[in-house]
Amino acid sequence: HPSAAHPSAAHPSAAHPPDNVRMSSTTSLDRAKIKVLLLESVHESAIRTFAAEGYTSVTARPGSLAPAELARAVADAHILGIRSRTKIPAEVIAAAPKLIAIGCFSIGTNQVDLDAAQAAGIPVFNAPFSNTRSVAELVIGEIVMLCRGIPERSAAAHRGEWVKTVGGATEVRGKTLGIVGYGHIGTQVGLLAEALGMRVVFHDVETKLALGNAAAVDRLSALLERSDVVTLHVPETRQTRGMIGARELAQMRPGAHLINASRGTVVDIDALAQALEARHLAGAAIDVFPSEPSASGEEFRSPLRRFDNVILTPHIGGNTVEAQEGIGSEVAAKLIRYSDNGSTLTAVNFPEVALPEHPGKHRLLHIHRNEPGVLAQVNGVLSRSGINIASQYLETAGKVGYAVIDVDGIDRPLSLALKKELDAIAATIRTRVLY
Ligand code: NAI
Repeated sequence: HPSAAHPSAAHPSAAHPPDNVRMSSTTSLDRAKIKVLLLESVHESAIRTFAAEGYTSVTARPGSLAPAELARAVADAHILGIRSRTKIPAEVIAAAPKLIAIGCFSIGTNQVDLDAAQAAGIPVFNAPFSNTRSVAELVIGEIVMLCRGIPERSAAAHRGEWVKTVGGATEVRGKTLGIVGYGHIGTQVGLLAEALGMRVVFHDVETKLALGNAAAVDRLSALLERSDVVTLHVPETRQTRGMIGARELAQMRPGAHLINASRGTVVDIDALAQALEARHLAGAAIDVFPSEPSASGEEFRSPLRRFDNVILTPHIGGNTVEAQEGIGSEVAAKLIRYSDNGSTLTAVNFPEVALPEHPGKHRLLHIHRNEPGVLAQVNGVLSRSGINIASQYLETAGKVGYAVIDVDGIDRPLSLALKKELDAIAATIRTRVLY
């Protein structure tokens, strides 16, 4: 992966976007002049996605930057992309007057001061589902491994022991998989497990459409009593904290297996160790822990280390090449869509507006403090200028309102004059014009 790739060099043809790229809208700035700064070796797929849309002023750097350095680096950036190691506190946002959007090329967004970004009129995007399939595949592999008793046989073989007994080894075909949390990952696991001939039951707090032949189970205890393998795919909430403790483990079938690749707080690890010690459970696969080493190389401590029949993985459920590549193109596409079109769909800190294309129309984007009467002032500006509004969208979230106005029959000098007037409204945070 080129460390400081300047895509205009890496993709010489990209300076002039290929004919097959739809350019139905342009931004007020020439795309080639929109400065994109990407840190932490964001996947090349991001740079390719930007280049294909004519964003050739992309600087990609391998490492993260500390806030003081970052504040200098973002002084003239329009778009900033980071992964999880770069912190973006309010000071960095204050030092970036031209910044229109932040992309977190990651699942989480807690590395960014989201409120400060919101107050500055900067939407933050991420890639929440790019690694869904990666987690689901790992879980499927673990189901097969656990049912065959592979973890302990493999551990024994590493020590020179030859455990060629059938033991409790079973096929997964015809066995029951219980999925707790039937969301993005849970549903994928269910479909893949059915393809292997498993029966799938699931439990969710929401009413969910059952895919394939999966059957919903009302109570968690009913799922635990029926399942040969239980896999957890819930988020971390107050309700899911310690959701699987001694009582729930006792409700599981003797000889069943538990898989947790969701969040470390969901399972009471000491209770799990006891259930394994008592041989009530035949095995487990755990990817997430209540406390995890903060860096590679730091010792991993857990009462589960002593069990050969437990697959332990260092929170890598979603870590695949495909997931990284998907994150790169997904987040870049969201940033481009916001820059080109104004759409904020899936922004984590901002009013979400999904906008159609606006051929032949000028689009005014007005980000303002969420106070009464702002839209009336915006419309006042337009009606005083005798301008006809073709369509208008307003969405508010928290302290911010986002108004999008498509107008026709105006030229570039007029839309820039309108931008000036909109800028003058007291509650304005920022305006943009797309034409
Ligand atoms: P999702 O939000 O699509 O699905 C979660 C489901 O759990 C939803 O259907 C929700 O209604 C349900 N749920 C919430 N509270 C519940 C409760 N108390 N009882 C039963 N169901 C409940 O989330 P997604 O994308 O499927 O992710 C699931 C989990 O996997 C998350 O905790 C996420 O952080 C974790 N994850 C772990 C990764 C890893 O590397 N191990 C990678 C990606 C996600």
